[in-house]
Amino acid sequence: TTRLTAPALRSRKGATPIVAITAYNTIMARLVDPHVDCILVGDSLAMVEHGMGSTLGASLELMIAHGRAVMAGASKALVVVDMPFGSYEASPADAFRAAARLMADTGCGAVKLEGGTGMAETIEFLAERGIPVMAHVGLTPQSMNALGGFRTQGHDEAGRDRILADARAVCDAGAFSVVLEGIVEPLAEAITRDIAAPTIGIGAAAACDGQILVLEDMLGLTEKAPRFVKRYAALGEAVDRAVSNYADEVRARDFPGPEHVYRPRA
Ligand code: KIV
Ligand code: NA
Repeated sequence: TTRLTAPALRSRKGATPIVAITAYNTIMARLVDPHVDCILVGDSLAMVEHGMGSTLGASLELMIAHGRAVMAGASKALVVVDMPFGSYEASPADAFRAAARLMADTGCGAVKLEGGTGMAETIEFLAERGIPVMAHVGLTPQSMNALGGFRTQGHDEAGRDRILADARAVCDAGAFSVVLEGIVEPLAEAITRDIAAPTIGIGAAAACDGQILVLEDMLGLTEKAPRFVKRYAALGEAVDRAVSNYADEVRARDFPGPEHVYRPRA
């Protein structure tokens, strides 16, 4: 099988919806790969996988380690790795060095970074040097300290104008797709109509060109999930039941049973 490329994903605008999901490790990548177009190694792994309070603590080394693990399990989906906070904001040259390491060390097909008009120059710098960039506007978690928390965006006209300008700027700079996170539905619809690159929504609109969810959220593994998450499974409860049964059987000496132990051959 051949792997989906960033240009191929970009050409899906106006065709069938793009299916994206996050994964952080080999097992999950192997399970989601047959079903999705794009796997994002999101810096949400700082919170979901490493118990940090925000995404700001994700390092380049951590993203590389998880990016490698996901690449080992995925053969057909486009794998995109998030550029971590601090690795790309200061200058286009910094961003290029970090993105080049992410791509060279993981083999991923694209990187994602957060920001709009302020990141357009950087996106263009990377795109011109062979690095496909997925942009991310609206609720950008790496800016949570400046935004005042995880707040949905676009509730006033000035905010809506700013986010539309952000989406246009990153698209014009050469982003091959744009994640729209945590914005009011009519704004996500308007951006999707307005820009040439496909939009990938999360807490955005069904009208977006694609959707993305954090895998552990949609599987019911995370504790509390926001409004935009649909729970497609209750794996948290399944793990709780399985480990509880195991603990009971060990304490009762019911596990291991005769079928789980080795008898001498002679
Ligand atoms: O880090 C992440 O998981 C993301 C997606 C939610 C878009 O950036
Ligand atoms: Na992210």
